[in-house]
Amino acid sequence: MHISVIGTGYVGLVSGAGLADFGMKVTCVDIDEGKIKKLKKGEIPFYEPGLEELVRKNLKAKRLDFTTDFAKAVKNSLVIFICVGTPSLPDGSADLSQIREVALKLAEVIDEYKVIVTKSTVPVGTNRWMKDLINKHKKTEAAIDVISNPEFLREGNAVEDFMHPDRVIIGGESAYAIAIIKDIYRPLYLAETPFIITNLETAELIKYASNAFLATKITFINEMANFCEKVGADVTLVAKGMGLDPRIGSKFLNPGPGFGGSCFPKDVKALIHQGKLLSSPLKILEAVIEVNEKQKLRVISKLENFLGELKNKVIAILGLSFKPNTSDVRESPALTVVPKLLELGAKVRVYDPVAMKEFREAMKDLPIEYAQSAEEALKEAHAMVILTEWNEFRFLDLTQIKKLMKSPVLIDMRNIYEPEVVKKLGFSYSGIGRS
Ligand SMILES: NC(=O)c1ccc[n+]([C@@H]2O[C@H](COP(=O)([O-])OP(=O)(O)OC[C@H]3O[C@@H](n4cnc5c(N)ncnc54)[C@H](O)[C@@H]3O)[C@@H](O)[C@H]2O)c1
Repeated sequence: MHISVIGTGYVGLVSGAGLADFGMKVTCVDIDEGKIKKLKKGEIPFYEPGLEELVRKNLKAKRLDFTTDFAKAVKNSLVIFICVGTPSLPDGSADLSQIREVALKLAEVIDEYKVIVTKSTVPVGTNRWMKDLINKHKKTEAAIDVISNPEFLREGNAVEDFMHPDRVIIGGESAYAIAIIKDIYRPLYLAETPFIITNLETAELIKYASNAFLATKITFINEMANFCEKVGADVTLVAKGMGLDPRIGSKFLNPGPGFGGSCFPKDVKALIHQGKLLSSPLKILEAVIEVNEKQKLRVISKLENFLGELKNKVIAILGLSFKPNTSDVRESPALTVVPKLLELGAKVRVYDPVAMKEFREAMKDLPIEYAQSAEEALKEAHAMVILTEWNEFRFLDLTQIKKLMKSPVLIDMRNIYEPEVVKKLGFSYSGIGRS
């Protein structure tokens, strides 16, 4: 079976390479010529563990191919996976312009039966709208079916997640098209991955409800962490005690500097927006966004507690990506924290193992110092702030680092250090939710 994947970002590239690894012939399409040129050579435009090997293996086996020639790729394929971006618009709604553009291009070139599968996260109703749009603009009588097949991979673990998902969701109206998609995912079906076959709307909402729930869970424990600081409780043990109840579960109960990334913030906002449009307000989610924005700035008051006014203080930020094992800085807490520190007159030095280029691009001309290592960032610094729990920050030589720093202040927004140990080394330490 020949498949096209439109959009070679995190989802499209991992899905394309993964489907090729299942044995399909896959052509990945993008409008970004530079990206396609690199991908043809097996070069991956972002950091994702295991992806380069998977792409190179399937390129070599000639099951995977990259092109900017949309029409040719679509003509050769029975199934077209749409994996383009659906970022936030200023009002919080999902920007569907990339989906619309792809739909109109499909309408131009479709001349025989095609199954069009949406992997991008799209608001409820989008697949039905997209089907009508393609049918309205189609140049031939060729039939199409539309399937909603939301993707749940996590950046940093994307290859593993695609190859071994918790579930596969297939929403659609045509039994024939559903059977084709089930066939594509046969290796997972054989491995007893749960499949949910449903209508378009339910499939679309499963994705949003899942992300909204996870964002709520993180926000809940962040608020509990702040409360712990007031009452002298330890949030790590509160979370452990809660998580032992199987109805709650221990995952996603780690407090931190607020959630970020390319999905949770935009998906929660898009769901809130749709709730408003439909007069079905989502008050819990509104609170989640509000609390999360405040959480990103918790680090500022922690710094002020130790250092007083931050003007002219040198603050070293360790970790810029929104989580470890990715170079993605979209909606990362660092994007809020660093400009705020600069606004308060602090001097900011930053370091991340892989996301320096992406952060520099996002921060444009702001006067930030970019260090080549954690140690370099910490030289003469008044405080160190850990924003992302990269493994290399877990084993810093704190005795040496104390000698490097102007004042040994450690704000550990991921609770990766033991307060007592760090304090014994002479640091002023503040984690999160550990009084
Ligand atoms: N990143 C994640 O972890 C993740 C996980 C699950 C779902 N999703 C969803 O998947 C979708 C894609 O996310 P992403 O992070 O991969 O996005 P991305 O921004 O990394 O990639 C999108 C790609 O689409 C390309 N593109 C845009 N318009 C195009 C067109 N007309 N034709 C061909 N290519 C085009 C862009 O050049 C880009 O390479 C979003 O809806 C997102 O919410 C993302």
